[in-house]
Amino acid sequence: MADAASRPFAAGAIAVPLVLPVLGYLSTDVRVMFTVHLFLGAFWFGTAVLGAVVLGPVMGSLSEDANVEFAEGFVPKMNLLMEPVSVGVVGSGIGLASMMGLWASPTPSLWAAFVLAIALLVLGFGPLHKFTAGMFDEIAADNTDHERLASLNKKYGMLSLVELVLMVAIVATMSGLRWGL
Ligand code: HEM
Repeated sequence: MADAASRPFAAGAIAVPLVLPVLGYLSTDVRVMFTVHLFLGAFWFGTAVLGAVVLGPVMGSLSEDANVEFAEGFVPKMNLLMEPVSVGVVGSGIGLASMMGLWASPTPSLWAAFVLAIALLVLGFGPLHKFTAGMFDEIAADNTDHERLASLNKKYGMLSLVELVLMVAIVATMSGLRWGL
């Protein structure tokens, strides 16, 4: 997978989202952590919307050969990038809340954010990972099973819509946090 996405891409995709929150925490400056969290959170949200609403449907509508070619470039990179980004967003959010002293008496919004974050991680590391790994295997195989690829693509597309709903909900809880709810 790392080779398919190119090694420098893989190194950056894993290191940047995981190192930034650690640096933010070590800085002991809540503004730095806030910026890291915003940067990663905005990236995750934007990519989730783009993937679910634009790229997924486009991929599904391509011819078999074009689909494989597109997926060859897209699947390994997305697979490597999005899991570290999701851990980075949730880690920076939990760290930020702790730097702001919010865990001393968590508000309903903080609990809701936490629960939604766990659900997003379970979805990402569970079924979404399984589907993309399956797509990767099919693309890499000598004789791609187009039916299986299309069915995985479809399941992935539907589940990314569920992910999108959870993402919108968690951003709503961010607004709640901002106003102390
Ligand atoms: C998809 C996941 C997430 C996204 C897209 C996201 C996005 C954001 C955004 C846009 C803000 C700035 C708005 C604001 O000031 O409230 C923010 C702030 C914040 N986030 Fe997140 N966040 C995510 C997950 C989390 C999680 C899981 C936690 C903790 C459990 C968390 C904790 C916080 C805290 C404490 C703030 C600062 C609130 C304040 O200014 O009073 N975030 N987040």
